[in-house]
Amino acid sequence: MTDGLLSQSFTSAAADTDRSVDPDLVARARAMAAKGTVLLRNENDVLPFTAGTRLALFGRIQKDWIAVGYGSGGDVNPPYVTNLLDSLRESGRVEVDLQLAQQYEAWCEQNPADPGEHWGAWPRHYPEMPLDDDAVREAAGRNEAAVVVIGRAAGEDRDAELAGGSYYLTDAEHALLSQVTGAFDRTVVIVDGGNVIDLSWTENYPLDGVMIAWAGGMEGGRATADVLTGAVEPGGRLTATFARRYQDHPSAGHFGDADVTAYVEDVFVGYRYFETFAPEKVLFPFGSGLGYTRFDIKPTGVHADEGTILVRARVTNTGDRPGDEVVQVYVHKPSGELSQPLRALAAFGRTGELAPGESREMELPIAWADLASYDDAGATGHRSAYVLEAGSYRFHVGHDVRSAHDAGGVDITELRVVQQLEEAAAVDPAHGFERIVLEHDENGDPRIGYAPVPTRTTSLKQRILDRLPEAVDPPVGDEPTFEEVLEGTAGLDDFIATLTPRELADLTYGDVTMDSPLGAAGNAGALGGVSRALRDRGVIPAITTDGPSGIRLSTHASLLPCGTALASTWDPQAVQGLCARHGQEMSRKGSDILLGPGMNIQRDPLCGRNFEYFSEDPLVSGLTGAAQVNGIQSQGLAACPKHFACNNQEFKRSQVDVRVSERALREIYLRGFELMVRESSPWAIMTSYNKINGVWGHYHYDLITSILRGEWGFTGLVMTDWWMRMAQDPDFPALHDSGYRVRAGVDVLMPGSIHSQQPVRDEGVLESHRAQDGLTLGEMQEAARHVLGYLAAVRPQGHRMGRGEREEH
Ligand code: BGC
Repeated sequence: MTDGLLSQSFTSAAADTDRSVDPDLVARARAMAAKGTVLLRNENDVLPFTAGTRLALFGRIQKDWIAVGYGSGGDVNPPYVTNLLDSLRESGRVEVDLQLAQQYEAWCEQNPADPGEHWGAWPRHYPEMPLDDDAVREAAGRNEAAVVVIGRAAGEDRDAELAGGSYYLTDAEHALLSQVTGAFDRTVVIVDGGNVIDLSWTENYPLDGVMIAWAGGMEGGRATADVLTGAVEPGGRLTATFARRYQDHPSAGHFGDADVTAYVEDVFVGYRYFETFAPEKVLFPFGSGLGYTRFDIKPTGVHADEGTILVRARVTNTGDRPGDEVVQVYVHKPSGELSQPLRALAAFGRTGELAPGESREMELPIAWADLASYDDAGATGHRSAYVLEAGSYRFHVGHDVRSAHDAGGVDITELRVVQQLEEAAAVDPAHGFERIVLEHDENGDPRIGYAPVPTRTTSLKQRILDRLPEAVDPPVGDEPTFEEVLEGTAGLDDFIATLTPRELADLTYGDVTMDSPLGAAGNAGALGGVSRALRDRGVIPAITTDGPSGIRLSTHASLLPCGTALASTWDPQAVQGLCARHGQEMSRKGSDILLGPGMNIQRDPLCGRNFEYFSEDPLVSGLTGAAQVNGIQSQGLAACPKHFACNNQEFKRSQVDVRVSERALREIYLRGFELMVRESSPWAIMTSYNKINGVWGHYHYDLITSILRGEWGFTGLVMTDWWMRMAQDPDFPALHDSGYRVRAGVDVLMPGSIHSQQPVRDEGVLESHRAQDGLTLGEMQEAARHVLGYLAAVRPQGHRMGRGEREEH
C-alpha cells in the first residue's frame, strides 16, 4: 500500500448552516489558547500594551491566522475562525493602524491564503506582502509599537522542512523584520503555528517581545489579542526545547529516512540531552515562559517515605500584577550502571492566581515507582526490571528546566527492584546500533559516549503460543441477545460464545468506508454493529470522528486549541474542563469515539504532526492526554489516544522502521501512553502505521498484548490507524493481514476494507481462521470481547444521526 492510499480525505464541506456554538466551550477554548501562549521575551515590559496604544500590525498572518495544522487533526469545519487583526480591533483596547490594516486586507484578498485541495501538499507558509521602506517609516511615525506576525503550518503527511518558509524564515520575512525593527522603537514578534521553528533570528533583530501563539483553534486570534492587551496573562511554558540550531538536536541526522530511523539518542530526548550534554546550545529552555508579573520560588523541603517523595516550595508573587506560576520539579537520578540525564521532569503544578505580594505553599508529590529506570541490558543485575539504583536523588525546583535549583535530595542505600517485567519489543539482533550513553571526562563533566543497544533474546513465537486465549463454550439453553447483556440478565461471554465465526470476524472490522452511512455525514468510520446480522442480534454501531482539536464532521463543530497549545498550559485540570464540554458537543453532533488525543513524543521539531502532540516530555504528555481522555469520557463517550507508538515522522510513515532500545521505548515513547492509561482508562487506543523494531504497530503483539494489556491492564479496544499495510505473519504462515493483526491483539481494522480505494470487506480474519493452524476461535472471541465490552459499558448513541443502511458486502 502506498502512502497515497493512506491519504484518505473526503469532502467535508459544511453541509448545514447551523453555526451555533456552546458559549461555555467557546469561553474555555479562548481562555486555554491564551493560557497556552508562551511569552519568551519581554524587554522593558513592552507587553502588555497599555490601553490606547497605537499599534502597527505587520505580516499577513494577522489576517490569515493559522488556527490549526493540516490533515485529519485539523480538518474541522469551524463556524468561524478569529484572527489577530479583527480581534485587536474588536477588543477596543488598542488603536490598530487603519491605513496599514486596509493595505493588508486588500492584499490578502487579492492573494488568498489557499491551502489547496491536494492532500499532503499544503503550503507551509504563505508569501508576505512586500512593503517599501517609506511605508514602514510612515507607519512608525503614526504608531507607538509594531507587531510582526510570522505563521507556519505543517501536518499529517507533511513534515516541516529545513528551508525558508518552514523551519527557517523566508527572505521576505527577514526583510520585513529588518524594515520594522529599523523604523520602530518597539517591536513584538508573534510566531503562530504548531511546530518549534528556528528562532535564532530573535538574537539578531532588536526585538522587545517574542511570543509563541500555538495554533489556538477558532478562538486563537481573540486569545492572542487578550494576551497582548493584558486582559489575560500569557500562561504558557514551553513543552519542547528551542535549540540555537536545528543541527544541535540529538535527533538531527536521525530523522526523516524513508526506511529506517535509529533512535540513537536513546533516553536523551529533548531537554534530557541538552541539559546533560549541551546546555549552551539551547536558546529557550524547556519549561520556560514569562507571565506579566514575577515570582520567587523558594524550596522549603524534600520529604520522603517508602512510597512517595514530597517536594515543597513557597511561591511569592513579587511583581505588581496578579499572576499564576507553574512550579516545575526535576529529578537528577544517580548514574550508576544506567545512564541518567541531568534533569527529568518529575512533577509540576500551577499556583492559581496570586495577588501581588501573595504567597502560596506548593506541595508536589512524586511516587518513587515513577522515578525507576528500566534496565534493558541487565547492567544492574536485573534485566527487564524497573529499578532504583542506589545513590542520591536530587530534586530541583523552579520556573523552567534551566533555572530550577537544588531543593534537596534523598539517598537510597541499596538498589531497589520496583517491578520485574519481561523483555518486550526489543531491538532485532540483526538491526543493532550504538546508542548514546553518559560518560564523564577527566574533569568529571558529562560527555557523550556510545554503547551497543541490547537486542532481543526471547522468542516471540513461543510467547504467543504459550498465551493463546481459550475459547468460551456456549451456554446451556437459549441464545442470549445483546439487549439481555445490556440489561444484565445475560453474561457477555455467554453472548460471545454464541457468535458464529462470521459474526466474530465482522466485529474485528470497521464499516468499509470512512463517512459511514451508519453515522453523521463526514464521520471517520463505524465499528461494532457494522453488519446487519450483528445489528439483528442487538449489537449497535459506534461512530468515530477525528480529532483531536475538534470534531471532524461535515457539520460545523468547534475548532479547539491544538495539542501543543493545551499542553503548554501545564494545567491538566483546565484541559479536562474544556474536554468535558467538547464531549458534550460530540454527543450533540453524533460522535461516540474521538480519535485523539495525539500522544506521540515531539522527538524532532520537523515532525508534521507535532501540533497534535503535546511535548518532548512523557510526563507532560501523559498527564495532558489523561486530562483530555477524562474530560471526554466524563460525558459517557470514548477517546481513542493515538498513535501507539513512535509515529514521530510523517514522511513514509507507513514504511519507516523505528529502531529504539527497549529502555527508551518504555521510559520515553510509551511512558506518556502508560501514564495516560493509568490515569484515565481510555476505551480505545489507535496503533501507528510505522514499524517499531521491525514490526508494524498494527501487528505488534508485544506492544499491544504484552505491554498495553498485560503490564498496564488496558481493557478497552485497540483499532488500527486508517487502513494498514497488509502482510504475512513471519512466525505463523497460516496467518495473513487481519489474521496477523488479531493475533497481535489489535481488535479492529479501521475502516474494514482492503484499502481506501477499494471498499470491499477484507476477509483476512476468516481466511486465517479457516486455515490449518490458523487464528483460533479463542482469539476471535477475545477481540470481540474488547469491542462488545466497550459497547456494553458505554452504549454509544451516535448511530441516531445515521443516514441509512450500508449495503452488505
Ligand atoms: C491518521 C489518524 C486519523 C485517521 C482517520 C489517519 O491517516 O493518521 O490520526 O485519526 O487517519 O482520519
